[in-house]
Amino acid sequence: MSMTDIKKGLAGVTVDYTAVSKVNPETNSLLYRGYPVQELAATQPFEAVAHLLWKGELPTDEELAALRAEERLHRALDPDVRTAIELVPLDAHPMDEVRTAVSLLGARDLAGTGSVLDAGGNPEENLARSIRLFAALPAIVAYGQRRRRGQDLVEPRDDLDYAANFLWMTFGEEPDDIVVDAFNRSMILYAEHSFNASTFTARVVTSTLSDLYSAVVAAIGALKGPLHGGANEAVLHIFNEIGDASNVGPWLDEALASKRKVMGFGHRVYKRGDSRVPTMKAALDTLIEHYGRPDVAALYDALESEFVSRKGIYPNLDFPSGPAYNLIGFDTLTFTPVFIAARVTGWTAHILEQAASNALIRPLSEYNGPKERHVEGYVADA
Ligand code: ACO
Repeated sequence: MSMTDIKKGLAGVTVDYTAVSKVNPETNSLLYRGYPVQELAATQPFEAVAHLLWKGELPTDEELAALRAEERLHRALDPDVRTAIELVPLDAHPMDEVRTAVSLLGARDLAGTGSVLDAGGNPEENLARSIRLFAALPAIVAYGQRRRRGQDLVEPRDDLDYAANFLWMTFGEEPDDIVVDAFNRSMILYAEHSFNASTFTARVVTSTLSDLYSAVVAAIGALKGPLHGGANEAVLHIFNEIGDASNVGPWLDEALASKRKVMGFGHRVYKRGDSRVPTMKAALDTLIEHYGRPDVAALYDALESEFVSRKGIYPNLDFPSGPAYNLIGFDTLTFTPVFIAARVTGWTAHILEQAASNALIRPLSEYNGPKERHVEGYVADA
């Protein structure tokens, strides 16, 4: 038996430095480029946080205006991307739709590069690509939800900033300021979280000198799973199953007896609560008040207190964001695509960082398959 120390799931393994964000489970804190995320969520538009993640500093007024102008240039749904989206079956998961759209954008952008050796691009090109992707994703996500509802495309509005325009393109109605503010906060909270599974996936792909779009497509695949981004969708399924706060006890009895995971609880890094939850819960509370839905608050509180007291496992960001997105009006299947639109900022910041000080990511494994054996009848060449 080998004495190799296997770190299953890379748990507890530190694989590299990053200056993008710091997660501190001891103090339940999360810093983006040094700033506490709750301070950013309370004071900044999402565009400013994207700038911070990419460039390391919050933008000046001029820099923010320039980023917003650039974002407006690329926010309309490209006709070819629309065609690609429409080729995806209506009953496919919308994550597949967004993955396909990003893949097409990448293939078109990189057309003519000729060789894989040219595909990686330089830092300026990759930053420009990051901004274009950030700008293009809301229309892709919004149109996906609209076509599943049998609704037409809504064109973007130049008089609205990122978060308000995202909601406008999704619902075709001028959003209320309270809703825009809660949505903006959620986008900031979802933007970045160090070496989570999807970001690490993006860094692995980048480490082979592949291109930015390939890294983002791979990250979308990782985010789709219910142990990661897919959990915000799964939380709503649980809320719907339970129905009413009075059903929490019996529902949990059965879920725990069948060893079922309760989505929206637990975290690989935080063991005493997710640093992002208080800020997102406050945003959810404003939405509950705005939409007059005390029943949602009652179910949330009952499930949280019952699960924490039985298991000692705390809610993660997906627990308040699932019901928040539901109240805003997003279809459950659209929740994880919205997460992509936020996390693309963190992914691309990490892609730029990985490319700037690259080492091929290639861990080892300990073989535990059959002992060496031989194909019957094989005769070695003389
Ligand atoms: N419900 C029930 N039990 C749980 C949960 C949960 N949500 N989370 C952890 N546990 C239990 C496990 O069953 C396990 O119990 P055991 O030791 O008796 O087998 C123990 O706690 C440890 O859990 P692991 O899954 O091994 O811990 P890990 O650190 O790998 O898990 C994870 C982290 C995957 C997030 C886990 O807590 C989970 O599956 N949660 C539900 C999915 C979820 O909400 N994901 C969102 C993550 S945050 C984000 O992407 C924004």
